[in-house]
Amino acid sequence: MTDSAPVITIDGPSGVGKGTLTVSLARHLGWHLLDSGALYRLTALKADSSGIDLADETAVAAAARSLPAEFVTGAANEPVRVLMDGQDVTERLRTEACGHMASTVAAYPQVREALLQRQRDFRQAPGLVADGRDMGTTVFPGAPLKIFLTASAAVRAERRYEQLKRQGESVKLSHLLKEIEARDARDMGRSESPLKPAEDAIQIDTSALGIPEVFNLVIAHWQGKRLP
Ligand code: DC
Repeated sequence: MTDSAPVITIDGPSGVGKGTLTVSLARHLGWHLLDSGALYRLTALKADSSGIDLADETAVAAAARSLPAEFVTGAANEPVRVLMDGQDVTERLRTEACGHMASTVAAYPQVREALLQRQRDFRQAPGLVADGRDMGTTVFPGAPLKIFLTASAAVRAERRYEQLKRQGESVKLSHLLKEIEARDARDMGRSESPLKPAEDAIQIDTSALGIPEVFNLVIAHWQGKRLP
């Protein structure tokens, strides 16, 4: 029964460490993983590379509905690879330009509706760790454990700066900070599924915490849930 498979939702703003945490949790628990942001990034990339005007909500939603995408889980420390039309687009998805376009298309109600069932289909036994903005509020409102990560925009900009530097992208820290603040405003301000913690979410401020500490906190919460 897929409906009874447990889900841990990990929501929060850009650059807060959701991705790394989600991968570690899924590996540790032996569960499936949903990177919902990748679906919005893929939609933007597909629409853009098909010559669709990103301002045309109906056409972008049609692209979302027929997304020819596949997620390939790698070995131990390998990242999940994302294929579109059979081509590996993992690196293209992670660029700032693609993130910016994704934020635009993610504000369209028709796009969110088009991707809703697709996200729910990831809920398979033995369980799912789902990373996004509205996992706990909209996509999996019945999830037994909901986590909402926070960190100041300055800390997130610095983390993103280091990550992009490692990827060989050169960007200014001040520019990144502005981008992150603008994306936060768009993600929190949209009418459809805005970024906000579910009422029953556990909030963790990661500004001063390392990944292992956040991981241990979430595992402790999960074990707490499972105690009789
Ligand atoms: O997490 P990310 O940076 O890959 O997300 C890309 C964009 O998609 C970001 O602007 C927020 C949006 N998004 C969303 O609206 N809902 C989700 N569940 C996941 C991402």
